[in-house]
Amino acid sequence: MLVSVLSLKGSPGATTFAVALAARWPAPARTLVVEADPSGGDLALRFSLPSTPGLVSLAAAARRGGDADLVWQHTRQLPGGLPVIAAPPDADQARAALAALAPDPAGGLGVLRAAGNQPGTVVVVDCGRVDPGSPALSIVRSSDVVVLLSRAHADDLAHLPRRLPAVGRWSPNPVLLLVGEGYSTAEVARELGVSPLGRVPHDPSGAAVLCGRPGKRRWGRSGPAHSALGRFAHKVATRLAAHESPSAPVRRPAEPTPPATQVPELRAVPGGPPDAVSPNGVRAAHRPAADQDDGRQGGQS
Ligand SMILES: Nc1ncnc2c1ncn2[C@@H]1O[C@H](COP(=O)(O)OP(=O)(O)OP(=O)(O)O)[C@@H](O)[C@H]1O
Ligand SMILES: [Mg+2]
Repeated sequence: MLVSVLSLKGSPGATTFAVALAARWPAPARTLVVEADPSGGDLALRFSLPSTPGLVSLAAAARRGGDADLVWQHTRQLPGGLPVIAAPPDADQARAALAALAPDPAGGLGVLRAAGNQPGTVVVVDCGRVDPGSPALSIVRSSDVVVLLSRAHADDLAHLPRRLPAVGRWSPNPVLLLVGEGYSTAEVARELGVSPLGRVPHDPSGAAVLCGRPGKRRWGRSGPAHSALGRFAHKVATRLAAHESPSAPVRRPAEPTPPATQVPELRAVPGGPPDAVSPNGVRAAHRPAADQDDGRQGGQS
């Protein structure tokens, strides 16, 4: 299975969530994170990983051809043992490596797609901030599932009506996750015509572990598995794993899409209760605050 995680604007936590998703994917899958951000990687710096092996060495090897096992020869391990292929921090090097990893025009699969086709294997790719000119777009297009993260404030949401139709063309299975406080999932669903699968909790301590800043919380027993962010990632991963090809987690925006100027008409709920993954994945449901597994639990284990 090939899963792309991306953003359209800002830094909503795509890299962090990609790591969380792979770390918390339900057993017995073999998971791998590939950092394919054309603006340069963060994982090597965050976790003090050597520059090779990584995305550059994988790209060089892929030019000589390669099979589904090739990616595993270019991984490093994060503290919890999660295999990652880190992108170089330099954007030019990252873009060059991504160009080499694109599926070949003659119909070749590309090494990431080939790895994702292996039974029991989940390749989670952090594609960074994606626009139509991104060298990571071919990976997005060949993914089984595309997970789009967006902050839920008005200025972030204002871009979605214009850009969601493109995401729908890149993938038949885009999944929208809101991040942090702002408009509720129900309001976003109603106003944008897309139904977020849930809301990534604001969890600074959980995110810190996943970014190589462990502090009091470490990757072991009290690490990402037990943070609010880790628990949410596990719920999403379980949903995605249960539907190897989810039928339609996100309803495509109705045409014509509303102009961006309509978005501020959403009623803001600053500090409002973030929503957990809804039972059916397509409809946001408000629940009493006591029921919610949300960002306000950040820092608890
Ligand atoms: N759920 C979260 N709660 C709190 N902080 C978070 C969360 N997710 C990420 N962060 C923090 O936000 C910062 C940015 O995260 P991250 O690098 O994952 O964002 P990104 O979308 O990949 O950014 P970029 O587009 O620059 O690659 C990091 O310091 C990270 O610790
Ligand atoms: Mg990133």
